Amino acid sequence: MGEKKRIFSGIQPTNTPHLGNYFGAMANWVKLQEEYDCTYSIVDLHSITVRQDPVKLRAQIKESYALLIAMGLDPEKSTLFVQGHNPNHAELSWILSCYTQFGELSRMTQFKDKSQKHPDNINAGLFTYPVLMAADILLYQADLVPVGQDQMQHLELARNIVQRFNGVYGDVFTMPEGYITKSTAKIMSLQEPTKKMSKSDENPNASVWVLDDRDTIIRKFKRAVTDSETEVCAREGKDGIVNLMSIYSAATDKSFEEIEAEFSGRGYGDFKLAVGEAVADKLAPMQEEFRRISSDKAYLEDCMKKGAEKAFRTTRKTLQKVQKKLGFVVL
Ligand code: TRP
Repeated sequence: MGEKKRIFSGIQPTNTPHLGNYFGAMANWVKLQEEYDCTYSIVDLHSITVRQDPVKLRAQIKESYALLIAMGLDPEKSTLFVQGHNPNHAELSWILSCYTQFGELSRMTQFKDKSQKHPDNINAGLFTYPVLMAADILLYQADLVPVGQDQMQHLELARNIVQRFNGVYGDVFTMPEGYITKSTAKIMSLQEPTKKMSKSDENPNASVWVLDDRDTIIRKFKRAVTDSETEVCAREGKDGIVNLMSIYSAATDKSFEEIEAEFSGRGYGDFKLAVGEAVADKLAPMQEEFRRISSDKAYLEDCMKKGAEKAFRTTRKTLQKVQKKLGFVVL
């Protein structure tokens, strides 16, 4: 058997993850650790491209870290660390920024979107955000990068940087590829089912947070927007129902056919309640584990330290190779 392929991915510690983050990304990360050599990062450096409240940020970094362990991520098997704990990210990012063109970064749609949303804070970090992301990936020589569709343009930029850099200096970086699994559920807002569930949605009923309690989860699903028909089936124009079916399917592993059969002749009320209960049941053991881990501050800190050391050791090799190639004096 050859060496396992390497995977890298990151998640921002802004707000508590919602069902979209959970079913779309985090649950998948946990599955991948059996087959791949995985490194996952809580990307605190990326999150400050938008203003953050320091007290909230600190809590959310710890929360995200504990949540990933509670979801089944094994910090012994995978590398789980906080980006800012490994200084090599910022350093490689600077170097790569000298190999990234202003024009390339200007074309990034996320930069354009975020500049529009925060016109009073179009900072240089927001602009160079994709370079830091490239540094994250390239430092670990990742083969595969699980990301959502919205990050594919950034990944494409990372690939361009690899091609450019390797073209000049030889095989320094592994060419990373996007990893989008077919089964990855795309979860939409419960209030506007044509829009993705979002961490920044102002409507409190639009998103279900992975730490919501049972009653809150059930209440939010009861209020979910559907349509004026009565049939639980996946059809054009039934975005709300299709979304609820996706969520139910992700929580129970049932197929759409099975779900249609289960609810045939029953109303939306029954269905919504079943989805709420299934999600609450699915999250309950994870929430319990989260509370246990969060209360053990020493354990969490120890994991963070070990993760940071592991990440630092792995990435030192890549960084030194780069420094030598560039003509820096490496001591
Ligand atoms: N930009 C990603 C997001 O917002 C998070 C991220 C940072 C990331 N670095 C990464 C994802 C490296 C994959 C690989 O979702």
